[in-house]
Amino acid sequence: MPTIRDRAALAVLTDPTFVVPPVPPGTSGIAWLRASVGRFSTGPSHDRRRALSVEIISRIPPASLRRAGDEHPVATLARAMGITEPVTDLVRQIAQAYRPGTAAKDRQPGIRVAGAEPAADGDAVVGVEPAAGVDAVVGVEPAAGVDAVVGGDAVVGGEPPVGGDEARADEVLADATVERLIEVLAGAHDERTAARIGVLVQACDPTAALIDRLRDRSPATVFREDPPVPATKRRATAATVLPGGLAVEAGEEVVVALDGELAFGAGPRRCPGRAHALALAGIALTEPADHS
Ligand code: HEM
Repeated sequence: MPTIRDRAALAVLTDPTFVVPPVPPGTSGIAWLRASVGRFSTGPSHDRRRALSVEIISRIPPASLRRAGDEHPVATLARAMGITEPVTDLVRQIAQAYRPGTAAKDRQPGIRVAGAEPAADGDAVVGVEPAAGVDAVVGVEPAAGVDAVVGGDAVVGGEPPVGGDEARADEVLADATVERLIEVLAGAHDERTAARIGVLVQACDPTAALIDRLRDRSPATVFREDPPVPATKRRATAATVLPGGLAVEAGEEVVVALDGELAFGAGPRRCPGRAHALALAGIALTEPADHS
């Protein structure tokens, strides 16, 4: 799968020939979340669902996002969204399942998923045998959820994350966690609730990574050399030739590198939370928030 950079990357992100690889339908848990947020939708559903996210985000003035001490950015953001219950651990757990294969090293020990029946203890779920078929998760078929994940926010090194037992365990745990978070938000399995959860999940790891990386590097260096979202994926719906000459077949998937100017994406799917991310990271905004 080719990795596309710079001018060609901008072309992919702004050309409607390229779509986000579709995700399988889902009625509950993480599959429902992926199938209901703008991030993994295309066409009119993307427009409608993205608008829901933008509505949520635009109600929050970026300047109001001051973190208390070294509070997790999701805690600050959730408070600004009017959420009074603690949701950070739930959101982090869900965010990890977007990225199987990288999750094990990040796993926070002892996260307990209250309300998840029958295995209410997250660690117990992680410890079980992968009877549900590990290879299904690792497999290449979209139905197995890999595209959903790779189409998510981290493709490290340009390779699809390979999960195995841990990825499967994360998925099981994340299913219960999504259901718990819907309850905490007094929501339902609808697009509005998905948008609220989606905003928190989208914000979670990239913003935390940015804050961490800014401890010893400037924003420009971080975005150029170690971008919080290193890449995203697109699928060509028709054969095309990119600037620079790379020919892409119909149906082919490409990895789009998101460094430097493209750190927050571009085009109709660009990050709507850029100004908020920068505010949470304590970076003064010197450019227009909207990179289209
Ligand atoms: C350093 C922090 C962040 C980075 C680097 C980042 C980057 C990105 C990128 C690259 C995309 C587009 C992915 C693609 O086109 O495939 C995206 C989408 C998105 N981001 Fe961010 N993001 C960050 C923080 C945030 C925050 C704080 C929020 C919410 C306040 C947020 C909300 C979203 C949403 C809702 C989408 C989906 C947009 C759509 O459906 O069209 N992000 N982000």
